[in-house]
Amino acid sequence: MTEQPILVLGATGTTGRRVAARLAARGHVVRGASRHGVVRFDWSDAGTWRPALAGVRSVYLMAPHELPVEPAFVREAVGQGVRRLVLLSSRAVEEMGDERLLAAESTVRESGVEWTVVRADWFNQNFDEGFFRPAIEAGELAVPVGDTRQGFVDADDIAAVAVAALTEAGHEGKTYEVTGPRGLTFGEALDIIGEASGRRLTFRGSADEYRAQQAALGMPEEQTEQEVIAYRQLTGLGHPGGARQKVEPTTDTVATVTGRPPIDFADYAARVWTGVR
Ligand SMILES: NC(=O)c1ccc[n+]([C@@H]2O[C@H](COP(=O)([O-])OP(=O)(O)OC[C@H]3O[C@@H](n4cnc5c(N)ncnc54)[C@H](OP(=O)(O)O)[C@@H]3O)[C@@H](O)[C@H]2O)c1
Repeated sequence: MTEQPILVLGATGTTGRRVAARLAARGHVVRGASRHGVVRFDWSDAGTWRPALAGVRSVYLMAPHELPVEPAFVREAVGQGVRRLVLLSSRAVEEMGDERLLAAESTVRESGVEWTVVRADWFNQNFDEGFFRPAIEAGELAVPVGDTRQGFVDADDIAAVAVAALTEAGHEGKTYEVTGPRGLTFGEALDIIGEASGRRLTFRGSADEYRAQQAALGMPEEQTEQEVIAYRQLTGLGHPGGARQKVEPTTDTVATVTGRPPIDFADYAARVWTGVR
């Protein structure tokens, strides 16, 4: 019998692209979907959902930034015979009060089928593929987290964990916190990229520096203030008693689930940033 396809949403994006490639390399039948993907899937066009789901058993479920996971899509998936959902979420959902992803997590947990939630820390790829790239190119990045340590994780490791959850037994009903191997401050992360690329990069970690950066980028003031509050909740910065690390920077999820250690930030930087100016 031919294997049922695994539907990968966001298949042209940072994690979905890697999930699809890894599944295909292991010989699975992959249906990569997005607005511009091989199979057309648009969260805002429910007419694209049913064809994307036809015959599918498992789904890598991700919502692009700021879009919700529509409960109606999950109902449709389950109704069409999907038996396993692996959701990309964020490690900081509770601390930062991310209602969008908290709702997505509830939707999959209450779906009635096997589920795994992959709560990823900051992606390494934010620096080269994602929203930090313009700041890195400009030589200066502001994020209001001071010198708190973060568990930057490589998207290849997120994909490896997601693929295990999609294809192996034993990951059902689990919420995985996925991080890199060591906690790094943003300043340290920029120094590592700076060293690999031979450039001088400056990190600015205060709320006021973040406000100035976002204003220069033309971001609405109200949105920036909400983000400053969310970052304060994440780091404890600005609270009586000073900064505290609310969550441990790292977990052993990648090693436990994949059987190999997570990719170190320095290896990511050497691979991606060497010689990039
Ligand atoms: N960056 C981080 O550090 C971090 C950490 C934890 C969690 N997250 C979460 O990760 C998610 C983003 O994942 P990612 O970085 O892998 O994605 P991404 O690189 O931002 O790519 C977004 C993907 O979604 C597709 N897409 C965009 N709009 C769509 C629409 N209306 N309908 C269907 N598909 C659409 C895009 O392809 P098309 O343009 O072809 O449609 C693309 O494949 C977000 O929910 C974010 O909160 C991010």
